[in-house]
Amino acid sequence: MYVCICNAIKERELRAIACSVSGDAEAAYAALGKEPDCGQCLCEAEDILAEERAGAIPLALAV
Ligand code: FES
Repeated sequence: MYVCICNAIKERELRAIACSVSGDAEAAYAALGKEPDCGQCLCEAEDILAEERAGAIPLALAV
């Protein structure tokens, strides 16, 4: 599913980088080489990043 229509960013792309990039949705977009245009997707993108980060298990605890 596309989260950002302006940049054709898919949900799975955001989830894939959520734990390797710190910061907000704009930082995540920058990591993908994109930047927001209309901005209508940012709240949903923030929610996806937060959800993915909340579910992440720190590497030290995963062993
Ligand atoms: S839908 Fe993401 S910037 Fe427009």
